[in-house]
Amino acid sequence: MAERYRFLGKIEPLPALKPRMSKEVIELYKPDLETLKTIEASFTQVLEARKSIRQYGKTPITAQQLGEFIYRCARVKHLIQTERTEIAHRPYPSGGALYELELYPIVNSCEGIPFGLYHYHPLAHQLCRIADRTETVEALLNNAQQSAGQQDMPQVLIVIAARFQRLAWKYESMAYALMLKHVGILYQTMYLVATLMELAPCGLGGGNSDLFNRAAGCDYYAETSVGEFALGSKPKA
Ligand SMILES: Cc1cc2nc3c(=O)[nH]c(=O)nc-3n(C[C@H](O)[C@H](O)[C@H](O)COP(=O)(O)O)c2cc1C
Repeated sequence: MAERYRFLGKIEPLPALKPRMSKEVIELYKPDLETLKTIEASFTQVLEARKSIRQYGKTPITAQQLGEFIYRCARVKHLIQTERTEIAHRPYPSGGALYELELYPIVNSCEGIPFGLYHYHPLAHQLCRIADRTETVEALLNNAQQSAGQQDMPQVLIVIAARFQRLAWKYESMAYALMLKHVGILYQTMYLVATLMELAPCGLGGGNSDLFNRAAGCDYYAETSVGEFALGSKPKA
């Protein structure tokens, strides 16, 4: 990739972590990966079983399952300060280890976590509550339900947003294409983790970035939604 660092010394690169968006914080469950490694299904079983599921079980996903799911997909494992900028390691790969994607779960129905729009803090593994049951949050859920063929409303809708400057500072004109590749990578990671955990996953191609910005209060030109992923408990066969 072309790396000219044209903005070095002129514009400060964004930090790897977006600061917490509220003081109302929920600590998420962290799974014991060492134990899970010894008892889980094989990669081939997971890959072959993966499919989109747009209907959910009667009992909603739990806070423990949501915590485990996000931890396995998107937590920050390490932060590294390089000469030019701060980079990270997460379970999925990212160009330049820059990780511009932010997760905003809209919790509609989850045992142990109240309804609301949250921002995920990937190092602390916490949800920061940023909105209640507002009209715009409801509209995002309704749109997602329509995108999934008007089947069940997602129990959790994970809106994926990008902090554009984080990538554009280094990759300039390649940044947009690169961030869409990252969305695809994160979708597949989410699909595989959800399949392994016997949850119901579905990537969505729609989304409404105007609505998202109104709901989350982000600056449209600095950060907005670039993907949505519906998640819930899996219905019994
Ligand atoms: C980027 C992307 C966007 C998608 N958008 C939608 C969508 O908007 N609505 C939907 O119901 N399914 C959506 N899907 C799921 C696909 O329809 C699904 O992956 C495809 O039909 C293959 O089925 P499978 O996932 O069960 O193997 C999307 C999948 C991807 C990867």
